[in-house]
Amino acid sequence: MAKRRAQPSARRTALAALRAWRTEKRFADSVIAKLLAQTELDVRDRAFTLELFYGVLRNATLLDFWIGCLRKSPLDVDLRDLLRLGLYQLFFLKTPEHAAVHETVELAPKSRRALINAILRTAARRQDELRSQANAQCLAIRTSHPRFLVARWEQNFGPQAAEALCTWNNRPPPLYARINRLKIGRESFRRAYPESRPLSGNPHFVEFHTFPTEALAQGHCYIQDPSTAIACQLLDPQPGEKILDVCAAPGGKTSHIAELMRNRGGIVACDRAAERVRVLEENLARLGAGIARVFRFDWTRGRIPKEIVAIAPFDRVLIDAPCSNTGVMRRRVDVRWRIRAADFVRMQKQQLKIVRTALGLLKTGGVLVYSTCSLEPEENEKVVQQLLREFANSRRMEVQSSLPFRDGFDGAFAAKLIRTG
Ligand SMILES: C[S@@+](CC[C@H](N)C(=O)[O-])C[C@H]1O[C@@H](n2cnc3c(N)ncnc32)[C@H](O)[C@@H]1O
Repeated sequence: MAKRRAQPSARRTALAALRAWRTEKRFADSVIAKLLAQTELDVRDRAFTLELFYGVLRNATLLDFWIGCLRKSPLDVDLRDLLRLGLYQLFFLKTPEHAAVHETVELAPKSRRALINAILRTAARRQDELRSQANAQCLAIRTSHPRFLVARWEQNFGPQAAEALCTWNNRPPPLYARINRLKIGRESFRRAYPESRPLSGNPHFVEFHTFPTEALAQGHCYIQDPSTAIACQLLDPQPGEKILDVCAAPGGKTSHIAELMRNRGGIVACDRAAERVRVLEENLARLGAGIARVFRFDWTRGRIPKEIVAIAPFDRVLIDAPCSNTGVMRRRVDVRWRIRAADFVRMQKQQLKIVRTALGLLKTGGVLVYSTCSLEPEENEKVVQQLLREFANSRRMEVQSSLPFRDGFDGAFAAKLIRTG
């Protein structure tokens, strides 16, 4: 009989994910999804793997600060990952010392086990002292954020809000879902999924404590933060209209728009990335958003497909632009380690290019909504100001935003413009 390969443990999978993330330069979500797909870990072990992997990424600077206190001479990156994992269990998960140390040491190559064991035992013994040393550090170290980002937020929002934002980014996010009224009414949803908790002030959103596999498979809901609804509400699509959703994948807003239109009228949903277009199509089919037609198109290159031009002009255009994602950093854990100070202006150029191309497809009197999940003025207000300067025949109607430290949801920005005569 063929011998079954031993299952990697949750800790070993998390360690492999940290290494892959560091060396392969892929998004954290994609790294961990690929590794988990190759294991047969049960639900609890999967959750533990995610907790370890994302927990270490969220707290990397602080963990490294403690490593620096515990060992003065340089360490190679693989050992540093092991120590990060061990310290995260000791300091954040409060795993009993014997388990945290023993299980982490087991992951180390034999020649390095004594060293890892000694460092982790010392850490456990000096826990109080190490914690108070950390508390005396600046916000960037205490909350593991790049210094330039902390400085920018302190300047833009003030020191208290910047601290609240950094703390917010380090908390695991709740699991929110929008009820898909194309398939199920609110009351029926609550009866079918009594474990869901309605959100006050957001009647079409609920919170789950475990992944709602069945509700998702049925297309009864879509995992989405309530802040994403702002752009769709400002767009205010009406049944029977023609809508262009310029950057649509994976389809959260497209399906919400179809729901607001009661699946009457037409939506053209575009995206440039083939894989994302595939996910968009799947999501729209599952959610029953039958009025959406999907196109793959890059708005910064080439000619607008003639099929789209033939459908134009559109009553309303949504541009949910690619952005730095600084409003969703509690969900996109590795954004803080990818982002560079130059990115905001770089993104602005791309955002403006996309809007300039799509704007010509809007009818006179039509509504344009520009939205992002960024907190940065370069990608939000400054883009809108530039558009108003360039297009004399556009008027700003309304701006809405969500700020994590003010509103308790992800960061989002949306501006509504009208194309006048
Ligand atoms: C913020 S996401 C859109 C999220 C989507 N509206 C939703 O609610 O699910 C931005 C999308 O823009 C797409 N994108 C980026 N640059 C693009 C371009 N030049 N042309 C078309 N799509 C682009 C990305 O692939 C990404 O899917």
